Amino acid sequence: MTKLEAARAFERRAAARIPAADRPGFHLTPPVGWMNDPNGFCFYHGAYHLFFQYYPYDTVWGPMHWGHATSADLLHWTYLPCALAPDTDADAAGCFSGSAAPLPDGRLLLMYTGVQPAGADGRQAQMQCIAVGDGLDFEKDPQNPVIPAGLLPEGFGTADFRDPKVWRENGAYYCVAACRHAQDQGSILLFESPDARRWQFVTVLDSSRDRLGKMWECPDFFALGDTRVLLISPQEVCADENGELHPGDATAALLGRYDPVTHAFDRRKVQAVDDGLDFYAPQTALAPDGRRILIGWMQCWATTGQAPRPHPWYGRMSLPRELFLRDGRLCQRPVREIETLWQAETRLAGITVEARTALPGIRGRSLDLNVTVDADASPACRRFALRFAEGGGLFAEIRCDLALGELVFDRSRCGSRRDIPHIRRIRAVPHSGKLTLRLILDKDCAELFVNDGERVLSVLVDAPETAQGISFAAFGGPVRLDVVQHVLRA
Ligand code: FRU
Repeated sequence: MTKLEAARAFERRAAARIPAADRPGFHLTPPVGWMNDPNGFCFYHGAYHLFFQYYPYDTVWGPMHWGHATSADLLHWTYLPCALAPDTDADAAGCFSGSAAPLPDGRLLLMYTGVQPAGADGRQAQMQCIAVGDGLDFEKDPQNPVIPAGLLPEGFGTADFRDPKVWRENGAYYCVAACRHAQDQGSILLFESPDARRWQFVTVLDSSRDRLGKMWECPDFFALGDTRVLLISPQEVCADENGELHPGDATAALLGRYDPVTHAFDRRKVQAVDDGLDFYAPQTALAPDGRRILIGWMQCWATTGQAPRPHPWYGRMSLPRELFLRDGRLCQRPVREIETLWQAETRLAGITVEARTALPGIRGRSLDLNVTVDADASPACRRFALRFAEGGGLFAEIRCDLALGELVFDRSRCGSRRDIPHIRRIRAVPHSGKLTLRLILDKDCAELFVNDGERVLSVLVDAPETAQGISFAAFGGPVRLDVVQHVLRA
C-alpha cells in the first residue's frame, strides 16, 4: 500500500467513528487528526474545493499531507480522500502549504511546498512542487521541485521558502511564495511560467525589512477593485505604535498598487486581517459571481501546544468571508450563504439596559447575533459589556469603551487553565453614533465582526456547550440597543 492509500484507508475508517455532533455545525474540521492552514481554495467544476495541511494519524502536527473537502455553499462540507502524502524525494519530509488553479484542459493544478529532509547542515530544504489531477486524484510532476533552489535570487535560501499561491493571468502562470532574506527578513517572491512547469524568478514584491515580522508565511495576491492586496501571515511581529497588528504571529493585508508590466508593488497601507486570538494563514478564492472569499485556520501556533484534545480531530477553519474595501480599509462579512442557516428570528428594538440583564429569547451557541449600540442615545454610558457562552460561572465577554473607542475581547473566564493569551484589545469607534457588533457562534467557535466588518476577531471559547447564556450590561449610565438574533441550523 502506498502512503497515500494508507492515509485514505485510515481516515475513512477513523472518520466514520466520529459522530457529527462532536464537530462544530458549519466550521470545517479534519476528518480525523490534525489540521492547519487552508490550501488550494478554489471553485472547480461547479463546487468549492478546500484542501488543508493535514496529519491524519494524530491530533498534533506531523509529516504534512493535504486533506480535501468540497462544498456547494461554503458551509456544508463533504470530505474527499486525502489528496497528497509526503511520498516522493521532493517532498519526503512534508507537503506544506500551497494553492490550486484550474487548467485550460479542465484539470486542476496543485502547487505546494515540497520539504526535503535535513541534510548535513541540519536544515530542511523547501522548494515548490506541482501535482495535476481531476479534482480527486493528483499526479505529482516527475520534475519536482519545479521551483528549485537554483531559481532563488541572491540572499535567499531554501530553509524558509514556502507556501506558493498560483494563478493564471493573460495566458501565463504566476505564483507568489514566501522566503526569508538574510537582511530584509520576510519577503514575497514573484515567479512566472508559460505552463506552470518551467518557472523563472521575476521580482521581490515586498519585504519586512525587519519592521513587520521576521518571516512571512502564506502569501496571497489579488486585485480588489483598483487596489492590489498582498496578504501575509508574518511571524514574530513586534506591535507598532498604532497597535494595528498584535505581537507574535499575526495576519496582515498590505494594500497598494501593482504595475502588471514592471511587476512593481507599491505598498501604501498595512492593516490586520483578523485580530482574534485564533486565526492564521488565510487564503482566498474567487467565487463564480466575482466575490473574493477568504478562509483562515481558526487556530494559531501560540495557542495549539498544550490545548486539550477532547476529540480525535484537532483544528478547524474559520467561517468563509466576503472581502470588500470601504474607506480604504479591507473589510469582511460572513458569506451571505449563512442566511440559508437562519431559523427563528428575535428582534428587540430600542432596548435600554443598565444593570446586567438577559433579554428574552436571546441565548444559545449556534447564533447569528447583531447588536447595534446607539452611542449618541447613551450619553452617560461609559462602557457596554456583552457576555456570551455564560453558565456555571463561566463566560466570554466583549467590552466596549464608547468614549475611548476601544473594544476588548476577553475569554479569560471561559474555563481555560492554560497560560496563553486570552484578551485582545482593538480600536472600535462608533460611526455616525452607532457601534455594530455581529457575533457568529458555532459551539466553541466565536467570530465577531465589528462595524460591519471593519475589524474581525476569531476566537475559540472553552466554556462547555451547556453555557448558553447571553447578557448585557452598561456602566456609568444606560445604553440603548437594537438586537436581532437568528438561530443557526447546523
Ligand atoms: C503556516 C505554516 C506554513 C507551512 C505550514 C506547515 O501555518 O507554517 O508556512 O507551509 O504551516 O504545516
